[in-house]
Amino acid sequence: MDELAERYLGRALSAWGLDVEYVRAEGDLMYLADDDGGQPAVTDFVGGFGSLFFGHNHPELVAHARSLLDAGTPSHAQLSQRTEAQRVASALNAITRRELDAGEPYEVVFANSGAEAVEAAMKHAELARVFRLGALTGELAERARAARAQVRSGEAALSPAAVELAGPGGDIDAVLEEAGRRNAEALGRAPEFFALEGGFHGKLVGSLQLTHNPTFRLPFQALGARARFVPADQPEDVLKYVEAEQPYVLDIVAEDGVVEVRRLAVPFVAGFVVEPIQGEGGINELTAQQAERISDVCRAVRCPLIVDEIQTGAGRTGSFFASSRIGLTGDYYTLAKSIGGGLAKTSMLLVRQSSYVKEFELLHSSTYAKDSFSCAVTEKVLEMLERDDGAAYRQAAERGTRLRRALEEVRAEFPDVVRRVRGRGLLLGFEFADQSASGSPMIRNYARSGFFGFAVSGFLLRKYGLRLMPTGSAPNTLRIQPSYAIDDAAIDRLAAGLHDICAVLRHQDALQLVHP
Ligand code: F0G
Repeated sequence: MDELAERYLGRALSAWGLDVEYVRAEGDLMYLADDDGGQPAVTDFVGGFGSLFFGHNHPELVAHARSLLDAGTPSHAQLSQRTEAQRVASALNAITRRELDAGEPYEVVFANSGAEAVEAAMKHAELARVFRLGALTGELAERARAARAQVRSGEAALSPAAVELAGPGGDIDAVLEEAGRRNAEALGRAPEFFALEGGFHGKLVGSLQLTHNPTFRLPFQALGARARFVPADQPEDVLKYVEAEQPYVLDIVAEDGVVEVRRLAVPFVAGFVVEPIQGEGGINELTAQQAERISDVCRAVRCPLIVDEIQTGAGRTGSFFASSRIGLTGDYYTLAKSIGGGLAKTSMLLVRQSSYVKEFELLHSSTYAKDSFSCAVTEKVLEMLERDDGAAYRQAAERGTRLRRALEEVRAEFPDVVRRVRGRGLLLGFEFADQSASGSPMIRNYARSGFFGFAVSGFLLRKYGLRLMPTGSAPNTLRIQPSYAIDDAAIDRLAAGLHDICAVLRHQDALQLVHP
């Protein structure tokens, strides 16, 4: 059979023995199709790149999905009353009231994937900015008209600044013409978004501009909005940039018989997008202090704080929102991955009601978003997360503590090989020390080519039946994201596998890493 579905990626995976085929999955187990018809089990610590808080094919979610299909749920009933969507929005707001310090509800916009939810956030933020520009333009025009009328009636005279603006022999019309010309330029300044260094927000044209990894972003930079990357530990740096770049309009105001020329700042920063814990970027946690300083920057610049909880949300870190643990309260939130229960492809943008632009609903849509099946599955996911006073969150926290302890024990035994264990709950990263200077040419080459994490993943799959992957933007860090039901035996097997690979690396036993 011709392999025409991303065969180049398939060949790269085959180099590490990762081009295996899984034929069945449940909970944290995936079953391989092997040559003699068996189905050996593999324990999945990739977890759908964070989409499987409840594991693969959770029986309760599968039964619910079946009941939806058996009931003939009209999944595509666009532009009609969507009760499931309303219930999801209501359930999400019950959680925001409990976990966030927002003091108001959030409006919910539905999408299909994480990147799409980020795109919707960017579009809504830009629409809000454009509406602000519209209001500003209206105010300028009103005051300009009043100034012209007062000069013509002799009630007001030009100030020296207005005379200078008008140029030699200029009158109020010349003043307004020159101000209009300069204002058009200032108002036309392209918007910018701020995002954190190391951040990942998707690979669609707009969201990709916020994804820091240059390998992913640079080839497509010309296609999308401008983004400026900010260091998490020094967010104030961006204020110097704003000050230098700040465009101003000239406000021509008649007051007490004098026509003055005043400067008003034009809002050009559309939003600041952050992850509470960077997942794809290498499992990097924001501290409460960094969160506070980022919030201060958003207040100073008067732009919305957009908290991307696509990876960290829906229970993975031991609460629904990871950001609630560090006092980070967003004007917007994005959710995806586990919110769909591992069965539905769905995502949401939440916008604080006082920031919401209702016209957005008439300007943004997609065929599949807010479909009844996905909403009904999400409704079930939220019910399972919230039942028994949030038992699932507590279980995720307990399992995360157990998992973290096992990883730290391996690190304690191999401080020369393991750089750090990071993360919270069931979003953990196991970072190997850089092997670029390894005594083994093969290991050195893996490290220098960026494939080290894949070589390690191939070893763990081959020898221990463990499915792991490196984070895309931090190739020495394995991402560890099992379900909330990961058991002690699986954790102990992961620890044994990591212990073995660390011994291989310590003793430079490179041949162990070769896929036979
Ligand atoms: N935002 C965050 C924080 C993500 O981790 C991802 C995807 C996205 C947005 C985009 O979501 O893939 O559904 O379009 N993260 C994947 C990962 C790629 O490796 O964890 P998507």
